[in-house]
Amino acid sequence: MSAYLTNPHIWQESWDRQQEAFLPDREHRFTAMLDAVAAVTGGAAPRLLDLAGGTGSISLRALARFPDAQVTVLDQDPVLLTIAESSLRGRATIVDADLSEPGWRAKLPHDGFDAVLTATALHWLPADRVTALYAEIRETLRPGGIFANADHMPEEGLTQLSAKLREQARVEREARYAAGASTSWPDWWSRAAADAQLAPKAAERAKIYPAREHSEEWTPPATWHVQALLAGGFTEAGVIWRGGTDAAVAGIR
Ligand SMILES: C[S@@+](CC[C@H](N)C(=O)[O-])C[C@H]1O[C@@H](n2cnc3c(N)ncnc32)[C@H](O)[C@@H]1O
Repeated sequence: MSAYLTNPHIWQESWDRQQEAFLPDREHRFTAMLDAVAAVTGGAAPRLLDLAGGTGSISLRALARFPDAQVTVLDQDPVLLTIAESSLRGRATIVDADLSEPGWRAKLPHDGFDAVLTATALHWLPADRVTALYAEIRETLRPGGIFANADHMPEEGLTQLSAKLREQARVEREARYAAGASTSWPDWWSRAAADAQLAPKAAERAKIYPAREHSEEWTPPATWHVQALLAGGFTEAGVIWRGGTDAAVAGIR
């Protein structure tokens, strides 16, 4: 990258606030995933892949908790990767790759990760691609390594309650926007596009993500993900965190 952003921590902060408007318990899921990483590594500094990591929110928290961690952030968004590269400044390897293509693994600096973590991202991909991706992710892990995915995973037996929980969350989110507690998703991107340093990256982004970014909200229950992990070769898989209609599943290689 040519130059670091002047204020990456401010962009990181506003990204976190914008994401928390959707996920008020975002920090809880990150902590649950990092607890699982600590359990797997037994206190040793993990080699961690922050998959579809965006601005590197998970990487920053991993480095705060495990200062000697070797971290890689992978994403394809030029705006978010610019923020990640600027705020992590040499403390992480930045990889620009598209997870919808199996070739993403060839861009990694190494295999044998202790942990691959991802959050609020894989619902952007179609079901058959996620199934294949789980098997590919397994190949990047060392034996005994952990993969965890936190995303929208409603309980299949709670259809009506899930709809009510989502509506309640939507009302609260709108109230946050109205009060100026956070920027909405489109507002955040408009502000990034208006920033002198990020504007060229926003123009690049518009070519990667057309106006409608993910064609559908595909949110199967956690049981679907657990089955897909087992089908992908993970030796054990299950839920490590739940909050309302979201959950985090994990698989061990
Ligand atoms: C809502 S953001 C979440 C980012 C980060 N995990 C976090 O929690 O802040 C979803 C991320 O998935 C990334 N993403 C979506 N599809 C992708 C793909 N095909 N390849 C790489 N990254 C992708 C987006 O660029 C974006 O950074």
